[in-house]
Amino acid sequence: MAAYTFIDHTYDVVVVGAGGAGLRATFGMVAAGLKTACITKVFPTRSHTVAAQGGIGAALGNMAEDKWEWHMYDTVKGSDWLGDQDAIEYMCREAIPAVHELEHFGVPFSRTPEGKIYQRPFGGHMRDFGKAPVQRACAAADRTGHAILHTLYQQSLKHKAEFFVEYFALDLIMDPSSGECLGVVALDMATGAIHRFRAHQTVLATGGYGRAYFSCTSAHTCTGDGNGMVARAGLPLQDHEFVQFHPTGIYGSGCLITEGARGEGGYLTNSGGDRFMERYAPTAKDLASRDVVSRAMTMEIRERRGVGKEQDHIFLHLEHLGADVLHARLPGITETAKIFAGVDATREPIPVLPTVHYNMGGIPTIYTGEVVRPKAGSPDNLCGGLMAVGEAACVSVHGANRLGTNSLLDLVVFGRAAAHRAAELIKPGSKHKPLPADAGQNALSRLDRVRHAKGPRRVSDIRLDMQKAMQMDAAVYRTSKSLQEGVGNLKKIAGTMPDMGITDRSLIFNTDLIEALELENLMACANATMVSAEARKESRGAHAHEDYPERDDQTWMKHTLAYVDEKYSVRLDYRPVHTYTLSNEVEYIKPQKRVY
Ligand code: FUM
Repeated sequence: MAAYTFIDHTYDVVVVGAGGAGLRATFGMVAAGLKTACITKVFPTRSHTVAAQGGIGAALGNMAEDKWEWHMYDTVKGSDWLGDQDAIEYMCREAIPAVHELEHFGVPFSRTPEGKIYQRPFGGHMRDFGKAPVQRACAAADRTGHAILHTLYQQSLKHKAEFFVEYFALDLIMDPSSGECLGVVALDMATGAIHRFRAHQTVLATGGYGRAYFSCTSAHTCTGDGNGMVARAGLPLQDHEFVQFHPTGIYGSGCLITEGARGEGGYLTNSGGDRFMERYAPTAKDLASRDVVSRAMTMEIRERRGVGKEQDHIFLHLEHLGADVLHARLPGITETAKIFAGVDATREPIPVLPTVHYNMGGIPTIYTGEVVRPKAGSPDNLCGGLMAVGEAACVSVHGANRLGTNSLLDLVVFGRAAAHRAAELIKPGSKHKPLPADAGQNALSRLDRVRHAKGPRRVSDIRLDMQKAMQMDAAVYRTSKSLQEGVGNLKKIAGTMPDMGITDRSLIFNTDLIEALELENLMACANATMVSAEARKESRGAHAHEDYPERDDQTWMKHTLAYVDEKYSVRLDYRPVHTYTLSNEVEYIKPQKRVY
């Protein structure tokens, strides 16, 4: 192995990732007096949160009566009863102060004529325990994520948070005797220097792994880096089989057209001009939850009622809303439709297709952000020193299917919760546990192995094979056959990882090297997804299994745990769903048939 030296740092907390969750955690920790470093592979305001469009959910009741208990009911129902109800109660209740806090931080929300935060309807958000759609999505036009991310970054600067920008996290430092996390090792991509961060708590806020698929709304940076590090540390990944397809990705490019477009009155049609959602979801129609709408669109296409020459997509109509509404409420997607579909949304429909958008699964945590390392007889046993927040985490508030707007909410509520918990756990400046003599050697070996990989296959070729297999075999609808083939295909593709070769051996802004390291993370995520999906013999939320079309609460109301080894083989285990609430103010919502 080449010689490498560490540049050592000691912090109370190190946060990995600077999207909404990472930034909210970072400045919350600093505000609590904790010496905190935030390391991020992209400049903070380039994080994928910037792409969130339609809104952040909170029962503010600015447009009509609303209650956080209704929001909780909708979220439990949306999760298809796989969500943990204590965590869901926490999120929906805390949504209200968290959004007011954002307003005070300076988020430029759109306004009602009276000056309140503007709220629009969104899929699956209903009034009065499912009776009719409600306006709950707090919006900054259709650039809500952009507005929130920039405000959170400004708050972080105001708090003088310390950033390490364009640093790529390589691996966690784990204590072999206690199993606790002691910090993280990262590569400074600009200089090639290797930094060892020691901390009482390491917070993973690294986002999702949408790029395991061929077509997704996620940025190229969404490569499951935190999930990969956790898997290599011997911890499980939870509920990876639940991958959300957003109904309205632009046909061809996959760019997101916000669900807020349907919230403002947009609707979908098939080749016959039918508003087919009326048949699939008579009450909520186009505002049913995402899994329901994506399946309906797929059925229409399969039954040869798709639009276009190949009848392989669907139309989203916004023309009837008028140029003024589009300009005021949906300016971003009007521009996106023009650029990526060549369509003037004020005059013609936008061609759309369900597109991979969000990972419900991730690193298992409880509602404080602390990571779970289950052990026999103790399914909620915690892994000391490690937290996860945002899309990287599986709290689990989204269960088998996330409602739109609950992602931005998850980021700020649990970023904030992690800061609160860290403030309880850590005495600022207190002494650190001793580092093992070989602390960080795992990260160096990994870096060196990949940096000197001399195999015949390019990173991009292996990645494409993986993305195509995921797109084909872990799609909106799954069958035993597709999933078994998927497991075999991915096993074969993972088996080619030792054939990977990179050509640039330098450490200075070596994108070939970074993509190879990212591919290792994606490969762990992809295999966990396919194997977990193959094992789950039921349909629930985003996991629509054609051979097992019903939800089976008796056998399958449980979280999947996938342990991925260094050859990407997956061992499964399970842990119970939390069927209890956090307080006595609400009762456990019993499983029901899910209709919209
Ligand atoms: O459709 C959207 O604007 C996406 C929102 C979300 O995923 O929460």
